[in-house]
Amino acid sequence: MTEQSETLSNLMHEERRFAPPADLAASANVKEDAYASASNDFEGFWAEQAERLTWGTKWDRVLDWDNPPFAKWYTGGTINAAVNCVDRHVDAGNGDKVAIHWVGEPEDDARDITYSDLRDEVNKATNALISLGVKKGDRVAIYLPMIPECVFTMLACARLGAPHTVVFGGFSADALASRVEDCGAKVIVTSDGGYRRGAPSGLKPAVDGAVAKLAGGDAAVEHVLVVRRTGQEVDWNESVDKWWHDVVDGQSVEHEAEMHDSEHPLYVMYTSGTTGKPKGILHTTAGYLVGTSYTHWAVFDLKPETDVYWCTADVGWVTGHSYMVYGPLANGATQVMYEGTPDSPRKGRWWEIVEKYGVTIFYTAPTAIRTFMKQGREIPDQHDLSSIRLLGSVGEPINPEAYMWYREVIGGADGPDSGVPVVDTWWQTETGQIMISPLPGVTHGKPGSAMKALPGIEADVVNDQGESVPNGSGGYLILRKPWPAMLRTIWGDDQRFKDTYWSRWPDVYFAGDGAKKDEDGDIWVLGRVDDVMNVSGHRLSTTEIESALVSHPKVAEAAVVGATDETTGQAVCAFVILRESAVTEADENGEGSDLVQELRNHVAKEIGAIAKPRQIMIVPELPKTRSGKIMRRLLRDVAENREIGDVTTLADSSVMQMIQSGLSGSS
Ligand code: WTA
Repeated sequence: MTEQSETLSNLMHEERRFAPPADLAASANVKEDAYASASNDFEGFWAEQAERLTWGTKWDRVLDWDNPPFAKWYTGGTINAAVNCVDRHVDAGNGDKVAIHWVGEPEDDARDITYSDLRDEVNKATNALISLGVKKGDRVAIYLPMIPECVFTMLACARLGAPHTVVFGGFSADALASRVEDCGAKVIVTSDGGYRRGAPSGLKPAVDGAVAKLAGGDAAVEHVLVVRRTGQEVDWNESVDKWWHDVVDGQSVEHEAEMHDSEHPLYVMYTSGTTGKPKGILHTTAGYLVGTSYTHWAVFDLKPETDVYWCTADVGWVTGHSYMVYGPLANGATQVMYEGTPDSPRKGRWWEIVEKYGVTIFYTAPTAIRTFMKQGREIPDQHDLSSIRLLGSVGEPINPEAYMWYREVIGGADGPDSGVPVVDTWWQTETGQIMISPLPGVTHGKPGSAMKALPGIEADVVNDQGESVPNGSGGYLILRKPWPAMLRTIWGDDQRFKDTYWSRWPDVYFAGDGAKKDEDGDIWVLGRVDDVMNVSGHRLSTTEIESALVSHPKVAEAAVVGATDETTGQAVCAFVILRESAVTEADENGEGSDLVQELRNHVAKEIGAIAKPRQIMIVPELPKTRSGKIMRRLLRDVAENREIGDVTTLADSSVMQMIQSGLSGSS
């Protein structure tokens, strides 16, 4: 039995069930009948959900699937995402309502932004972008910390119809440059730096690096708009750099928004694929907004008048886009946005924030939950978390222990009939919206299971032949029908879009995840089945890290695997073969550990600190099949300190011994 199937059979014996609390069930936004109404009239269901938005012109057709896999939703309609997220709430008399309780990393740095404030700020930013020559259709890159200007800029882009691409602040200059280049962004919005555990850390230097790299080429950057956040010293390039306060502050708060076509591009979000080149996932306007606002309202049972919602994701990832910006703001929610890390300046900072703002709905990732588990319940126990009425999880499988801890310690459960619902939500950058999740007023909670597809979504688990597997078996997670917030393509690469997601079985979207249906038919998502790792809920490509390692002059060959890690879910483990000259040099100078450090830093420089391997093992050979394919399964056995599995398909079966003896000798 492999490790994975052993874990599986343990998971399948999960017998704990938690019924929805009676009062929540009675007043829940979505009831049981939603499933039937969606399956009886799929398009009618999604037409009804679209009514929650404000349209310029209504659509003629809900779904155009005439040319699969290229979907068009709400065709003939026009809409503006920023108007839906901002103006219409002000127009409805909710201008004084807080949209964002922004909490900075430095302790006294906080700001409440009402919907009226948000309208003014977004309009000023829109006018500023126009003054820099940004027009509808132009791309704008955003490389900012979790500060309000990030949301203002995203919505200003949406208002203008200039697709944004937000690049996570942890990415390097090279990674930023390749994204800016791929989507041809002509403006980058950034800041001097951001705060990380009490200390300012620079962002502008990476932008300078990216701008220099692209200078003179086809994708040269015309303007860099810089928010002054930390006040640290920055290099200044007169020809492109402009301070935000100089360009934005004096702008008018009026801007007349144009209604864009339903399928107008809203943003591109880059994500790791199975090759070295990240994929630019394209989301368009109307369907994305319907999908995110409906699911945000349904899965979190959002009551915008009374709830205080908090999604802890960074806006540099899709969760920040769908469930911090577009979903919640389209729904007129009040939410918390926090700049810092959970443990700075103290370990209980998140719980202080929950207590202070009376957070009612809390959405985070299993990796954070596992970190808190390790720190012990004494920390959250010092805070009054009783305002919380719903908990969500996203980004990676939540193991039953973490689920139970979350439910009991954060959700206040002291038995099977108390506590708040936990919704384990499965989705991807590509799906744009939550696809598989319990509905809190309807579905039982089952530790570790995302349960079933939401109303209007058709998910299944299939075998190699693409046939639906019976309950109690595992296979590949797929989606059978298009959905409103689905990616429309990979930016500039329709063929890769088809090949990556739609080619494995006819007319079926392959998510890249393995999953299992338990005896009740509920879905357990088990993780990636391709060469993508999931480290702390962040997707990283093995190939991308391998390429980074091989680009170092001392490295001849590299293989990377994601090894199970107690806290981060998976961790990056690299096996590296050195070039002859480097081997001799390292031996002579006794520099093995320095070299490992040098290689780790090299990966950080090429991709970003998030991709730094936890472990780099220098080995004499890599295990390969006769056709030259690296057998990562065997390397994973080494990285996880397990007995080595079946080596019969290796071209040279002594390689594993060589690797292991080399490693034990070096430790
Ligand atoms: C994984 C994040 C198990 C999965 C929204 C997916 C999950 C990838 C879950 C997408 C979950 C996300 N249970 N696995 N609830 N949620 N994943 O694009 O492997 O950053 O394919 O989107 O994360 O990661 P992405």
